Amino acid sequence: MRILVTGGAGFIGSHFVRGILSGVYPYWENTQTLVLDKLTYAGNLDNLAPVANQRNLTFVQGDICDPVIVDKLMRDVNLVVHFAAETHVDRSIADASEFVRTNVQGTFTLLEAAARAGVDRFVHVSTDEVYGSIEHGAWAEDQPLSPNSPYAASKASSDHLALAFHRTHGLPVSVTRCSNNYGPYQHTEKLIPLFATNLLDGLTVPLYGDGRNSRDWLHVDDHCRGIQLVASKGRAGDIYHIGGGTELTNATLTGQLLDICGADASAVRRVPDRKGHDLRYCLDISKISTELGYFPRISFSDGLADTVEWYRTHRDWWEPRKVSTTATT
Ligand SMILES: NC(=O)c1ccc[n+]([C@@H]2O[C@H](COP(=O)([O-])OP(=O)(O)OC[C@H]3O[C@@H](n4cnc5c(N)ncnc54)[C@H](O)[C@@H]3O)[C@@H](O)[C@H]2O)c1
Repeated sequence: MRILVTGGAGFIGSHFVRGILSGVYPYWENTQTLVLDKLTYAGNLDNLAPVANQRNLTFVQGDICDPVIVDKLMRDVNLVVHFAAETHVDRSIADASEFVRTNVQGTFTLLEAAARAGVDRFVHVSTDEVYGSIEHGAWAEDQPLSPNSPYAASKASSDHLALAFHRTHGLPVSVTRCSNNYGPYQHTEKLIPLFATNLLDGLTVPLYGDGRNSRDWLHVDDHCRGIQLVASKGRAGDIYHIGGGTELTNATLTGQLLDICGADASAVRRVPDRKGHDLRYCLDISKISTELGYFPRISFSDGLADTVEWYRTHRDWWEPRKVSTTATT
């Protein structure tokens, strides 16, 4: 089998690639893995260092918006797993142009090439943020989309395009929508790495607004196992939710990080809320659990402690790319 992974040098994509090449996924042991990544500020070849010498990995630096590169790489590919995106909500509030280009135009370029090449499956990795915000209860996969941030709107557009290519051209697309990921190798602009690295350095952490914003947390390893299940056993034309089962307000999460890092509440600095900040996201994951046997394996307390430990012991990875911006989820 030949897999094209876009964004495979980013946080989640690289975890997926390291998993494939370490033989974590059943029946994928002899897979040829092709990574296409532009290496934006968020992409990092160090993320693939543990598997870089393997013969069945090919890395191509390139843009998913470039039809020449994309067409060439799509030849003989059986499966596309599409992670590449601009992903940071705050950046999309400051300037959304790259989000529209990469997330919408880039996804369209990939879908066209995949349809021409006749790939067997295209997994489009998306987010719970496409639904907007929900005060109570949980979203099922047929919930209408109502994105609020430019990031979420660009992802919603790409979801619509992906599903349209299934309906119109018969491209075997599956869409996954997940909650907030955490784990090693995540860029320090995101909440958990930002707070953990600040606290490890004895600095304060910037908490948005009243801290009541609530997110479901999903370990990146559970997310990637869910994606692999969808790629292997999911139905074409279907959407699958992948969640972690641990819902926390940002204030509670911050308290847990303070405890792990041995800091107290004086390390928390309240900052003005993000514009249009969604209060709560919550996915119903009964479909993927019932149909594909997915359930999150990593408990949040273990996963969070291990993640902080990873940042404590991998300063060489994060110090050169440390940001001091406001935190986001
Ligand atoms: N991190 C989360 O919590 C989360 C939650 C829900 C959904 N997602 C989705 O999962 C996917 C991966 O997220 P992530 O957190 O790993 O992102 P990331 O920002 O860590 O990595 C994105 C990767 O895409 C690459 N990239 C960006 N623009 C590109 C382009 N034009 N051409 C080729 N490569 C390009 C970057 O270089 C980087 O390696 C995204 O589609 C995102 O929307 C992430």
